Amino acid sequence: MPDNPFRRTEPRPVPPVAASASEKTIPLVINGKSFFHNGDPDMPLLWYLRDVLRLTGAKFGCGIGACGACTVLIDGKAEPACLLPVKALAHREILTIEGLAGKDALHPLQEAWIAEDAVGCGYCQTGQIMAAAALLARKPHPDDADIDALPNLCRCGTYPRIRAAIVRAANAPVEAKQ
Ligand code: FES
Ligand code: FES
Repeated sequence: MPDNPFRRTEPRPVPPVAASASEKTIPLVINGKSFFHNGDPDMPLLWYLRDVLRLTGAKFGCGIGACGACTVLIDGKAEPACLLPVKALAHREILTIEGLAGKDALHPLQEAWIAEDAVGCGYCQTGQIMAAAALLARKPHPDDADIDALPNLCRCGTYPRIRAAIVRAANAPVEAKQ
């Protein structure tokens, strides 16, 4: 089976905020960089990303795992960061929108989002892109039903443009996905 060109795993580096480890430290790997959480182990990942690391791409919407505004990838799978305590994420590969682009180029989904003018108010869109990235990683050429099955909500109703952007990214030249 050929390599899936959407499985880009070279995240943009984010400077670590702590470098010392203690017995209670939770080691986290976020966008390819190591972090060490010494605070409340039950802190939701979304809080850690936004309030500690200042990675504000993932958004708070519902806080109950229903809207998808906080979607990040955990070991390549789309998950709601609002529901995940950091204690459950030691050594897992966490990818946020800030780490999605390649070193020298946007991810094909980001290019497609721009080309299709997919954004309304923008609030849900980072979650939409991360959910689409997980979809394309497991199914490089999804059909409409696959795309419509994505659970992320958009109050601006940009679903047709999101679908067009995902299709555009899926059909992008292979070199654009590398
Ligand atoms: S804020 Fe996490 S799913 Fe809505
Ligand atoms: S673009 Fe406004 S909520 Fe989706």
